[in-house]
Amino acid sequence: MPELFIPPAKNTFPAYGIWLYKEKSPAIKRVKKESAPSAHGDRHWDSSYLLMDYFTHNPLKKKSRVLDVGCGWGPTSIYLANQGHKVTGLDIDDQVFGFLQLQADLNNVEVKTRQGAMDSLKKTDLTKFDVIVGGDICFWPELTDEWFSLLKRAANAGVKKLVLADPGRQPFLDLVDKCERWDNELLTWYCLEPKRFTGSLLLVELNS
Ligand SMILES: C[S@@+](CC[C@H](N)C(=O)[O-])C[C@H]1O[C@@H](n2cnc3c(N)ncnc32)[C@H](O)[C@@H]1O
Repeated sequence: MPELFIPPAKNTFPAYGIWLYKEKSPAIKRVKKESAPSAHGDRHWDSSYLLMDYFTHNPLKKKSRVLDVGCGWGPTSIYLANQGHKVTGLDIDDQVFGFLQLQADLNNVEVKTRQGAMDSLKKTDLTKFDVIVGGDICFWPELTDEWFSLLKRAANAGVKKLVLADPGRQPFLDLVDKCERWDNELLTWYCLEPKRFTGSLLLVELNS
């Protein structure tokens, strides 16, 4: 029989070894009174569960330094921090960080946060990371070019790889085409926690 895990708080659900608050929980409602995200950082997005599943089957090197671009409420950041990695969550919208902190506390993990667009990251900032991840953060057409330019700077800064998850929107597929200069792979992936979801993963080896 599988081990029975007791929820650490009411109105939470498990996913890949971490706990997240249900969106209608009183804890989330309290943060919503003080924070109003305005760039789609208003819930957990399913692509984050694809990343959790992918990294469960393809673990990163121990204590990797990870940048989660467009971290939102932090599901991917918290999962990777719980795996022992050193994670920074970047988001253009500082209104998401109250939700991220609430859930990092729930899981007793530390996630650094940084407010800013991905455009704001210079090569010197990027030298501090081994891996860049992102879940559902290539949804506007202009984000294709922002990502491509970030990846060029990241490659020059020595970042090893990118793992980007998406339902398969056009701006994401356009980014896939632009990444042909690096070793890259487009995978169809599915996850089963907290529910079944199928989407795409773009893997790019920036420095092997
Ligand atoms: C669809 S949400 C995904 C959130 C999270 N990755 C998840 O899977 O739950 C996109 C997030 O990206 C942020 N964002 C949008 N444009 C951005 C940019 N140019 N640079 C950094 N973050 C951005 C938004 O504020 C939002 O929190």
